[in-house]
Amino acid sequence: MQSFWGKLPKPFFALAPMEDVTDAAFRRLIAKYGKPDVMFTEFTSADGLARADEEGKKKLLKKLEYSESERPIVAQLFTSNPEYMEAGAKLCAELGFDGFDINMGCPDRAVEKSGCGAALIKNPALARELIRAAKKSGLPVSVKTRIGYNSDELDTWLPELLAEEPAAIIIHARTRKEMSDVPARWDTIARAVAIRDSSKSKTLIIGNGDVKDIAEARAKAAETKCDGVMLGCAIFGNPWLFVGRTEPPSREEKIQALIEHLVLFDELLGDTTNYATMKKHFKAYVSGWDGAKELRVKLMETQFAKEAQQVIQSVVF
Ligand SMILES: Cc1cc2nc3c(=O)[nH]c(=O)nc-3n(C[C@H](O)[C@H](O)[C@H](O)COP(=O)(O)O)c2cc1C
Repeated sequence: MQSFWGKLPKPFFALAPMEDVTDAAFRRLIAKYGKPDVMFTEFTSADGLARADEEGKKKLLKKLEYSESERPIVAQLFTSNPEYMEAGAKLCAELGFDGFDINMGCPDRAVEKSGCGAALIKNPALARELIRAAKKSGLPVSVKTRIGYNSDELDTWLPELLAEEPAAIIIHARTRKEMSDVPARWDTIARAVAIRDSSKSKTLIIGNGDVKDIAEARAKAAETKCDGVMLGCAIFGNPWLFVGRTEPPSREEKIQALIEHLVLFDELLGDTTNYATMKKHFKAYVSGWDGAKELRVKLMETQFAKEAQQVIQSVVF
């Protein structure tokens, strides 16, 4: 049976997984104001899901909660252990996800220490074993990675992944070493498409890195011939991103969206997630008008979501 990947428009636009950013609350808001063609959860540890005690597991499962409005939705896990990968992917299938993604790009030292994330670029044999393990779930499997570890290794790294026939490969157009310190190298996405085409593979190639809006995403897709574009940071303060409108959101729209975001955070994550994660969004929502800075300072001092709502009510209305 054809998976959702085969039914997407061309080019399609995806929301990137971002830890403590694209959580259940923000995704619900994005689904309401400007739904992308496909959404990804923030990453979750498959080792944790397999080994944590009840309390720890509950917290991790929170990261895998989603609403029907977010479909098609892909769960992203990380591990370097094929057994845990298989179990994690099966769990995601049971939870009803539309797809399953393996993180092979995260440069975080804590993640890399156990051979996960970008460290897998240095271990293609294990990377391939992990894809095979995930596929046992029956979900279409994708991989999110970078162009190489210390240097551009697409010519060798990409064919290793393609050999396992994943449904899609998302390429953050930088090396691990480059972190996010240099502009994304979109010429490498065009090369990735050429490598895919020359191997007659059906795997979709999704480009990622530094794309600010849908107009730019369309241009990048036309330029590189990639199947889809994934956008991450551009979503901050802009749940309308995927609508592709040309005028920026007004002050009223941003305030209204922030209030809704706070309500959703409280409702969906209030009991398990540190309120500090919500503060990451204040700057993006509250900027660009007289008095924005003063409101932001007040919001940063709040201790919980309801207090932040009261501050907004007292200052703005
Ligand atoms: C705060 C933050 C959290 C992130 N968390 C994840 C993650 O959980 N999984 C992942 O594959 N990539 C993660 N990334 C990387 C993004 O998905 C994306 O590849 C990167 O930000 C480049 O795209 P952009 O320029 O459109 O933001 C994260 C990035 C940021 C800024």
